Amino acid sequence: MTKQAPQPAQSWDPKDYAAKAGFVAELGAPVLALLDPQPHERILDLGCGDGVLTKRLAALAASVVALDSSPEQVAAARASGLDAREGSGEALSFDAEFDAVFSNAALHWMPDADAVIAGIRRALKPGGRFVAEFGGGDNCAAVRTALHQAMSARGHDPQRLDPWYFPTAQDYRAKLESHGFIVTHIELFDRPTPLPGDIDGWLDVFAGTFFAVLNDEECAAARADIAQRLRPTLTDENGQWIADYVRLRLAAHLPG
Ligand code: BEZ
Repeated sequence: MTKQAPQPAQSWDPKDYAAKAGFVAELGAPVLALLDPQPHERILDLGCGDGVLTKRLAALAASVVALDSSPEQVAAARASGLDAREGSGEALSFDAEFDAVFSNAALHWMPDADAVIAGIRRALKPGGRFVAEFGGGDNCAAVRTALHQAMSARGHDPQRLDPWYFPTAQDYRAKLESHGFIVTHIELFDRPTPLPGDIDGWLDVFAGTFFAVLNDEECAAARADIAQRLRPTLTDENGQWIADYVRLRLAAHLPG
């Protein structure tokens, strides 16, 4: 049997992220409001990225630990004064330490949802809450389809290169309940998202695992191909790119 090459890892450049994906933290305000952090609470931000939204959370709570698997993003978060730590959300090692676990736009990068939820459960005190928002259902379906078509056309198996996990509300609720959470809110909703630039900027930041297997020439051709496929559906009459985001937003807690 031939051994398959491992899936390429997603890498992050904080400067690029700030320039092309600043909307991620901006659009995190509603899920932060759903968390409703209290001044006495200790909170874990799971998948903090560059820490821009975590800073807002830290201003409202007693203490915040910011966790991310990207050393570059952790360095950026630390530089902004946060207690930022490098670690995988699929292997959390905290034990009954937090009043709440919060996560914005990160859980879709963690396909082993059972490992993530089990770790969150362990990290929480009795009665602790878990409040999150991430991509669900048909999130970025047009972008994902165009990426898959472009990679298939170049002889690559897109399933192997696709890092994303977008569950339905029904599936995620069942997972939470199977780990002992009481779900008080879960909804899946469309959130068409204007991009600060064009789709190429979005691909730069978020689609690295697909392009890692292409050489420079193939990569440029694939990206042009993707932009061409998407322009008719994802741009408005002014040429503004609007990505087809779908969010899964939830609040759950452990028994007290
Ligand atoms: C999202 O936030 O939904 C997302 C980000 C990057 C890739 C795919 C989805």
